[in-house]
Amino acid sequence: MTKQIDLLSGTHPEKREFKLHKDILWSIIQSQSGTLGKAVLELVMNSIDAGATSVDITLSGKNISVSDDGKGFTNRGEIEQFFETFGTPHTKGDATYGRFRMGRGQIMAFSKNDWQSGKFAMQVDIKNCGLNYNLTTGNAPITA
Ligand SMILES: Nc1ncnc2c1ncn2[C@@H]1O[C@H](COP(=O)(O)OP(=O)(O)OP(=O)(O)O)[C@@H](O)[C@H]1O
Ligand SMILES: [Mg+2]
Repeated sequence: MTKQIDLLSGTHPEKREFKLHKDILWSIIQSQSGTLGKAVLELVMNSIDAGATSVDITLSGKNISVSDDGKGFTNRGEIEQFFETFGTPHTKGDATYGRFRMGRGQIMAFSKNDWQSGKFAMQVDIKNCGLNYNLTTGNAPITA
């Protein structure tokens, strides 16, 4: 391929942004997935970053439930920025463990999972449904 730069024409080039294809997100999520233990540990680290003072891990048949008493997702904007979007940068000092805003992909790569926080519920099944999820707002808060 040859790249030509016309220095004489005086025409202004159009500034374009490079983009990431959604398929690369799929590759990243799949490649970071390790063991189920690591995926659960990642959830616990997220709980600590959310200010939790307790984290309960419950095994029930083929299900694992991880719940914490941290701040949760408090509004839809947080869900869109931090749950729905992978890679949103952290601000300095806002987390002890969280760095890349990617870690939740580990448990998503493992299995279907349901997230619940206050009035928000997110159902994720990327293996069967691809890179999308169902968001429900307004259901009753979960009680332990
Ligand atoms: N238990 C939780 N309570 C409240 N917010 C959470 C919880 N788990 C995840 N989050 C939010 O979702 C974001 C994404 O979590 P994720 O684990 O993907 O990334 P991270 O922890 O920021 O970085 P890393 O990629 O290093 O794990 C968190 O940064 C936080 O804002
Ligand atoms: Mg994390």
